[in-house]
Amino acid sequence: MESATKANQTWVEADLIITGASELLTCAARSRQAGRRPDAGTIRQGAVAAREGRIVWVGPGANLREEVRLVRGGVTVDADGRVVMPGLVECHSHLAWAGDRADEFQLRAGGATYQEIAEAGGGILSTVYATREASDEVLRALVRKRLDRFLRYGVTTVEAKSGYGLSVDQEVRLLEIYRDVSQSHPVDVVPTLLAAHVVPVEYSDRPDDYVKHIVKKMIPAVAKKKLARFCDAFCEQGAFDAEQCRRVLSAGLEHGLLPKLHADQLTYMGGTEMAAELGAVSVDHLDHISEAGIRALAESMDGHRVPVAVLLPGATFFLGEGGYAPARRMLDAGVRVALSTDFNPGSSPTQNLWLMATMGCSQLHMTLDEVLRAITIEAARALALEDEVGSLEVGKKADILILDHSRQVEVPYRYGMNPIWRVFKAGKLVVKRDLVADE
Ligand code: NIG
Ligand code: FE
Repeated sequence: MESATKANQTWVEADLIITGASELLTCAARSRQAGRRPDAGTIRQGAVAAREGRIVWVGPGANLREEVRLVRGGVTVDADGRVVMPGLVECHSHLAWAGDRADEFQLRAGGATYQEIAEAGGGILSTVYATREASDEVLRALVRKRLDRFLRYGVTTVEAKSGYGLSVDQEVRLLEIYRDVSQSHPVDVVPTLLAAHVVPVEYSDRPDDYVKHIVKKMIPAVAKKKLARFCDAFCEQGAFDAEQCRRVLSAGLEHGLLPKLHADQLTYMGGTEMAAELGAVSVDHLDHISEAGIRALAESMDGHRVPVAVLLPGATFFLGEGGYAPARRMLDAGVRVALSTDFNPGSSPTQNLWLMATMGCSQLHMTLDEVLRAITIEAARALALEDEVGSLEVGKKADILILDHSRQVEVPYRYGMNPIWRVFKAGKLVVKRDLVADE
């Protein structure tokens, strides 16, 4: 942090100052310590300052003039009584796919289940066909458009899974598209290899051979090209069992890809316990988590890292087949909970992470503080990025939102709408919404 001294006064120098927040939510990583319930870290009448894309000062607006100086050419933005908070972190999304599965939604409305549709040739495999057939240009345009939409919703970091290619070339292609598009897009994209999404038709009836192919060929190819940070798998009936997932995630670890897992979504498969044993960064879905699974995710006393529970209430809502994850019991047991859209064509075709905060309150019985943290700092933790993004703290990226709300309590309340007024990514204004015209 650079500073300038004049007489006895030391100033922090900033090129962006945002003042006039009615409530500034820091969502600070540390507000969890000392036996306190984690909270949103609210500063009333707060302000935040950044320089060269990083936060250099956060505090009460009343201290700003004494402590911060704007450099020549710097900008001050008046939030004018609005809520200011960190850019959202979307920690579980399937971004690159073609076609859609709108007809399946109607089949489910008529009583068919997700698994029945998959067995009848729909489901993930039908998106694999559509995606393999799409050209690079088409997929690139789709990924760009989806990142644009996330950004307009205030999402400044997005985890993006492969998983609709299911061969070395096709999975590499999807991850290369993420790399290429993200190079010229403000949103930070965190790529995940999901080769173990479902068994492709080339290997039908030989699932173990496909697992071997993932371990021997796909993971090494992706790791060699440095195309992914995480390795994920779908632990589910009709996909892979816990033992197969263990083989995939262990091979990923050997190649430097950190483990994540889709677990306990439609049925209990023991995946959560296995992933916790492997030291996964997150375990996702968890609608059917066991008591042993909850214990495995509860914060350990010796401080060793346990996986973040990423809950995806949008998928539960959209599939309409059963109950939501037992979030309250998990939180009360000391599990860290993040929320995500699970954006994908089959079980959750929405990009509205704000809506997940509403479902967090109404369906998962989470508190306001818990949902605000679940879409910011806990989601950052689910990407092992809690030192970089997800909170307004000195040293972090200046990913900052100004909402068209005057109180944080409106965030889950005004549901299904986009509350964004301004988005700053690494200190740059990237979204400016004229709410009357854009609504
Ligand atoms: O997270 N569960 C696996 N993957 C997705 C569904 C993907 C699809 O149906 O295309 C999910 O829900
Ligand atoms: Fe998913």
